[in-house]
Amino acid sequence: MIFLATLLIMVKIVSVEVMVFPASNCDFSVSVLPHQVYGFNNPHFPGTYTAGVTCRWIFDCPEYTCRVQCRDVGLPKTQGCFMDRLLVSITGNLFFEGAEVFCGRTSINTTSVGTRITIGLMSRAMSPGGRFRCTVRTEPFQHPWAKFAHSPNEIISDEKRR
Ligand SMILES: *[C@@H]1O[C@H](CO)[C@@H](O)[C@H](O)[C@H]1NC(C)=O
Repeated sequence: MIFLATLLIMVKIVSVEVMVFPASNCDFSVSVLPHQVYGFNNPHFPGTYTAGVTCRWIFDCPEYTCRVQCRDVGLPKTQGCFMDRLLVSITGNLFFEGAEVFCGRTSINTTSVGTRITIGLMSRAMSPGGRFRCTVRTEPFQHPWAKFAHSPNEIISDEKRR
């Protein structure tokens, strides 16, 4: 019971995650085409990002899901990632509500629920810096019907085209 309660509290903390606005020079929106591998990394890579930086990457993979893989993430490791954090919203939330939070030395391998995935970097003013390097590629929906359930924007734009 105690374990379950702890888990619920943790889930709640993650789900209220909201991001402050990214720096205008560190806010990216990319459309990823099939068979394309798009690489992205922290500002100043292979050096480290600077303290207090906030960045956002929005990836759209029309007709597909977006698979994000980060082999080497190296952010300061802190309790609850209170210092620096890499945020991944598999629902493509622009403000990282419900996003997964990563820090320390880790790897990431995840795929979007719909056609969009968003990645955020938030670093504190006291941060010693960190770095990461990732790739995004398209991946077919596991269930073909899922693409219609999760692509409201595409359905709207299809209607507009008519
Ligand atoms: C990432 O996850 C996918 C699906 O679970 C798996 O097929 C793939 O091998 C994984 N890649 C790495 C580098 O772990």
